[in-house]
Amino acid sequence: MTKAATRPHTAAATEPGEPASPDDAIAEAIAAGKLLVQPYARWAAQQGIPIIEDFAVDLLAVETAPWDRLGARAALVHVAGRGDWSNIVVTELSAGKATEPQRHLYEEVVYVLSGHGSTIVEDEAGRQHTVDWGPRSLIGLPLNARYRHVHGGRNEPARLASVTSLPVMLNAFHDEDFILGSSWNFSGRFGDAARFRGEGEFVEVAPGRHMWETNFVPDLADFELPAWAARGAGSRNLKFVLADATMHAHVSEMPVGTYKKGHRHHPDFHVFTVTGHGYSLLWYEGDEEFTRINWRHGVVYAPADQQFHQHFNTAAHPTRYLAVAYGGLRYPFTEERRQHFLGVDKSVSEGGRQIDYADEDPRIRVLYEKELAVSGLTCAMPPVTGRAHP
Ligand SMILES: [Fe+2]
Repeated sequence: MTKAATRPHTAAATEPGEPASPDDAIAEAIAAGKLLVQPYARWAAQQGIPIIEDFAVDLLAVETAPWDRLGARAALVHVAGRGDWSNIVVTELSAGKATEPQRHLYEEVVYVLSGHGSTIVEDEAGRQHTVDWGPRSLIGLPLNARYRHVHGGRNEPARLASVTSLPVMLNAFHDEDFILGSSWNFSGRFGDAARFRGEGEFVEVAPGRHMWETNFVPDLADFELPAWAARGAGSRNLKFVLADATMHAHVSEMPVGTYKKGHRHHPDFHVFTVTGHGYSLLWYEGDEEFTRINWRHGVVYAPADQQFHQHFNTAAHPTRYLAVAYGGLRYPFTEERRQHFLGVDKSVSEGGRQIDYADEDPRIRVLYEKELAVSGLTCAMPPVTGRAHP
């Protein structure tokens, strides 16, 4: 403090002799950008593109608007359970269009909702790597690599959904020019050039902890997933380490007539439908009723902080979903996330985060069998034995 003599004794809007209420003084200081500043929220509001906020969002129906920075139409999507670290950017590319070259100090995992095209990624030596994508592709952009998306030339527009770590980065540095203007090359993030063509390395660890290291998965519907029985009947799962990022991605599969075990964790796991359809039940400990989300291709939501959630397949074929969050199995980012990956398939009764079938609310199985019957499907769940729930 160098100008103590100019420091006001009360809030500026207060008449002499009339003290401001603390709430008014705080609100006035927030409005003036003096405290509780939200750099990412402020940045988002300045972009001139739609911001969609809801618990679950149909990304195929989201309105977009031209975004000068990107040179394409876009929108920002903030699902309620997103937490503090990540957001979704929806990008729409019409026929013949390409985005402006970008590079940024935040991570970005791109899930292709519709359309075909290419992403051109440039490494520090100036070599260009071309990623040819289509529906259900997953792309990990190496941190701060220069890239652009190019439409594939067919008639239909392409729609991309990116989960990014811009919120945590902008809130940490609160300097847009630093985030968007750095020339630092993160050489270790690229890996072998073949990773931009979908090749990679399978890292075998244990059920639920197996990883596929790559920069690109051409089609998440057509990728072998190892079994992970501890998360549910017939459950399959694979974790992805994309461009050596902190950003996490995994794909899970549920066979016909099955559902996962319920569990809970911190927020931020953005859940996208890859194939099939179904619903999720969500509730907080002690709740009498469930919140229900019906999902299909295009829908995204994120279970909120410590909200139990459980996924149910109601399709006539195996259903897959993608989950993306900041902090993954390779680089968990926080101790909480590290504990999550250690205990995600352990029962609450054993100090874990999962509700075994024997411990679940009986209404859950009854509802599921009713939903299957509507579609003429048979429940393939194992009978519940040793039920502990009243
Ligand atoms: Fe979860």
